[in-house]
Amino acid sequence: MSKIVVGNLKMSLTKHQVEDYVSIINKEKFENVDLILCPSFIHILMFNSKNYSVGAQNVFYEQLGPYTGEISAMQLKEIGVNYVIIGHSERRTIFNETNSIINKKINACLDNNIKVILCIGENKEQKDSNETSNVLKKQIEEALYGIKSSNLQNIIIAYEPVYSIGTGNALTKDEIKSNILYIKSIINNNFNSDCKVIYGGSVNKENANDIIDVCDGIMVGKMSNDAKEFIKLLSIVNM
Ligand code: PGA
Repeated sequence: MSKIVVGNLKMSLTKHQVEDYVSIINKEKFENVDLILCPSFIHILMFNSKNYSVGAQNVFYEQLGPYTGEISAMQLKEIGVNYVIIGHSERRTIFNETNSIINKKINACLDNNIKVILCIGENKEQKDSNETSNVLKKQIEEALYGIKSSNLQNIIIAYEPVYSIGTGNALTKDEIKSNILYIKSIINNNFNSDCKVIYGGSVNKENANDIIDVCDGIMVGKMSNDAKEFIKLLSIVNM
């Protein structure tokens, strides 16, 4: 079974760096990897190979109108975007995105035939006070409120514990396994359906193999920013 790999490029690359990145990554094809590259909005059209899908890192929930600075799901679909990352912890914390805003964004994407990568995850304080299960359940149930079971096939859940993002400290294989199983059980109980669940947070060449063993794929931030290094990581997942 193919594994999903999402490259979350965040706001990390300049135009020139993206030109180099694309020229390197476009030469690669991985049989056992569903690669989804998510650059900044302004670089999306530079990613133009059939070897991967292109995703955006954010979206606004309205379709068209007086929303200065925003970009809609309809506009993204028009330029060939097939995925959107929604609810990343950086958006929840820096831009105050709530589960209810996230729910509206998910609906906007599904209405425009765009697949959703929904990020959830507890922070350190919540983990330390044994709140992880409650936090994950609330994030899932509120973000997916009113979503039809048939749409679960268009949603990937990315489990990203906030304290492991960008820190070099991924969770252990056992921790990831038990939280992924828990997330799958919530989906099953609420929707009577399956959903792909991937892990994100300090994934690298050393831990990728162990991690993909216990989930449907990975979301990679820092280690996806250098095309050559990312290709090495992708080769490990492709094995
Ligand atoms: P990281 O980021 O791989 O740099 O930890 C992951 C993410 O934010 O999705």
